[in-house]
Amino acid sequence: MTRGFFISFEGGEGAGKSTQIRRLGERLTARGLQVVLTREPGGSEGAEAIRDLALNGSVDRWSPLTESLLMYAARRDHIERRIQPALDQSQVVLCDRFADSTRAYQGAGGGVSTDFIDALEANIVQDCVPDLTLIFDMPVEEGLRRAASRGDYEARFESKGLEFHQRLRDGFLKIAADQPDRCLVINAAAGDVETVSALVWAAVEPRLPRHG
Ligand SMILES: Nc1ncnc2c1ncn2[C@@H]1O[C@H](COP(=O)(O)OP(=O)(O)O)[C@@H](O)[C@H]1O
Ligand SMILES: [Mg+2]
Repeated sequence: MTRGFFISFEGGEGAGKSTQIRRLGERLTARGLQVVLTREPGGSEGAEAIRDLALNGSVDRWSPLTESLLMYAARRDHIERRIQPALDQSQVVLCDRFADSTRAYQGAGGGVSTDFIDALEANIVQDCVPDLTLIFDMPVEEGLRRAASRGDYEARFESKGLEFHQRLRDGFLKIAADQPDRCLVINAAAGDVETVSALVWAAVEPRLPRHG
């Protein structure tokens, strides 16, 4: 591999992203690849500090527009300090949420204009676009049930109500439809952790760059 390989995990709360990213990381490591597991918002020291601001507090602590700016400030730091350096060293970067989450949460969910999100994405992400994005899709009620049963959930977004989460789901599916070369929808309600893990592997394995 010359440049590494960048995979983002996207989708609503409780869809199984964090569970599956760990499993994929183990599988790729077992193949001898150097894997970086990271997440957004966060993933670098500065971005984790912004994460604490963005995800905690009352539901209306930030407007969706302010949130977009916080997320993109965090994203820029994460790209500069963690993602791009790892890709430059031919590592596989697995990121639990990335730019599509801003488009879905603050855009489709929060009503921030597509033009504004497009401009942020073009200027901040630049060419650090994932090679592959897995969009974990499942009925909203089931995802929220799973997230609540997990206990440590990110309360600011999970308390926004069913309609918000439905717009979120639709937003992610629109991204997948608009960018079919990059995005694959994973049926996150297909079955148990093993079943979904097999779907993830079937999506990733054939797309990995070949060695040598
Ligand atoms: N395929 C699955 N079937 C049932 N429960 C699952 C499955 N995958 C994950 N879970 C459980 O659902 C909850 C949410 O999973 P998690 O990976 O944290 O989701 P996310 O990171 O997308 O919010 C966790 O308690 C996890 O153990
Ligand atoms: Mg998670």
